[in-house]
Amino acid sequence: MSEIEAFVAGLPKAELHLHLEGSLEPELMFALARRNGVDIPFGSVDEVRAAYEFANLQDFLDIYYAGADVLREEQDFYDLTLAYLKRAAADAVRHVEVFFDPQTHTDRSIPFATVINGILAALAEGERELGITSGLILCFLRHLSEDAAFATLQTAEPYFDRLAGVGLDSSEVGHPPSKFRRVFAAAGQNGLRRVAHAGEEGPPAYVYEALDLLHIDRLDHGNRSLEDDALVGRLVREEMTLTVCPLSNLKLCVVDDLVNHPLRRMLELGLRATVNSDDPAYFGGYVNENYVKTARALGLGPTDLATLAKNSFTGSFLDDAAKTRHLAAVDAYADGFEI
Ligand code: ADE
Ligand code: ZN
Repeated sequence: MSEIEAFVAGLPKAELHLHLEGSLEPELMFALARRNGVDIPFGSVDEVRAAYEFANLQDFLDIYYAGADVLREEQDFYDLTLAYLKRAAADAVRHVEVFFDPQTHTDRSIPFATVINGILAALAEGERELGITSGLILCFLRHLSEDAAFATLQTAEPYFDRLAGVGLDSSEVGHPPSKFRRVFAAAGQNGLRRVAHAGEEGPPAYVYEALDLLHIDRLDHGNRSLEDDALVGRLVREEMTLTVCPLSNLKLCVVDDLVNHPLRRMLELGLRATVNSDDPAYFGGYVNENYVKTARALGLGPTDLATLAKNSFTGSFLDDAAKTRHLAAVDAYADGFEI
């Protein structure tokens, strides 16, 4: 193990950008297909992995939504979530704020309660058995209508006290944040935090809309903000956390090579960037691999990596006392690590 790998392995961190459906490993996909009698268009785990070549976000989403079809029962959502938490615990993740896409399931006639009860039970088990605290973020699919998002928000109402917030994901270009202005306002009125994917493939104008019209508390991806100096200045001033996903960006051709990834520039500009895995089963790396590969490509050292880990706690929806504890743990770890 290299020194950077060893440093990252024990570095306490939070993961703030993780789609539970994107943590469905091919092995579990096959097991659930068998358990539920669902046909999948692949003969083997290797065949599934070989199909994971994407030219853009939409290429990926087509396969990602097809894969989710094996998720049918509450136990499936429980197994999916607990498998992710175990994998995260192995990466020294102490806190997660995870996304789920209820419409992907309710549109297949899976009841909302089946989905969320399975996830919530696993999150509770993760806290008990693995010591990982968590928040759950309900994402609206932006390729669907705002009316459909409203219907989902209404269905979720009995669970509002167990949700950290709402998010916005799926096909970005052509579906600007402004399309969801009213439903985000309603979510905010109900005390839910607001996050949105913006500036992954979409232009800086979409990031402005997420800030001005959706009133986001956190920006998911945000890469293309760097095309607009005034926008960067605003994100720095407003101390906006960006949940950056380097290996996702590489797999979806948002960057052509990790050496050209903007993460280093983001830190130099004073942006509060964090490192996350997005859809690790599809992009070939959980959070530590994102830290390590990006550090190698960009020449990041322990100080930068500790900054990224601290940003992940500062940008979380934990309360101030918990943030203070985690930040002290990162400092203690970094101080005690000889590199
Ligand atoms: N859904 C899952 N992963 C996503 C991503 N990277 N961008 C938009 N929607 C997603
Ligand atoms: Zn994402």
